[in-house]
Amino acid sequence: MSATMPPHGPPGHAPEAVAVAAERRWAVIVGAIIALLVLMMIVTGLHWASMPPSRVETVDVKTLHLRGEFVESNLGTAVDADGKVTVRLVAQQYSFQPQCIVVPAGIPVTFRGTASDAIHGFVVGRTNANTMLVPGFVSTFTTTFSKPGEQLMPCHEYCGTGHEAMWAHVQVLPPEDFLARARNEERMSCVPR
Ligand code: CUA
Repeated sequence: MSATMPPHGPPGHAPEAVAVAAERRWAVIVGAIIALLVLMMIVTGLHWASMPPSRVETVDVKTLHLRGEFVESNLGTAVDADGKVTVRLVAQQYSFQPQCIVVPAGIPVTFRGTASDAIHGFVVGRTNANTMLVPGFVSTFTTTFSKPGEQLMPCHEYCGTGHEAMWAHVQVLPPEDFLARARNEERMSCVPR
C-alpha cells in the first residue's frame, strides 16, 4: 500500500520551500534597505533642525555693545588694506546705528549687521540691498550700488510701535570721493557731528 502512495515531500515540496525561503530573504533585505533610508532621513532631518544652516555666524547679544565687532567705535564703513569695503551696523528699537551710511558707487560693498533687541531688517531704496537683522546672528551680504545718490533705508520687519519711524539714510558717493574720504577716516558715516 505504501508503495502506491505518491511520495510526499522531496519532489514537490522542496522547490516550494526554497522559493519561500528566498522570498523571505529578499523581503528582509528590502525591509532593511527601507529601514536604513528612513533612518537616514530621520537622522539628517534632526541634524538640520538642530543645527543652524552653514555659514551662519552667531554673536552674543549680551556683549554686543561692550566688545567685539559691533562696538560703537567699529560701526560704519571701513575700507580694509586690501580695498574691501565693509559696512557694519546694528539695529535696535527704533533706529539703526549709524543713522547715515556712506558707500561708494561701482565698488562691491559687504554689509555686516545684527540686532540688539528684536528682529529688524532693512532695504536700501530701490536696490537689492535687503536683509533681516536677527538678535544673536550676523547677517551679511555683498552688493554693488550702480549710481551715486541718496537712498532711504527703512526697517522692513515689524519691530514694535516705533517701526514706521525706523529708518536710516544711505549716501552713495562717486568712488573717487568715497576713496578720498576713506584715506582720512577709519570708520566712515554721514551722521552729522
Ligand atoms: Cu525695526 Cu521695524
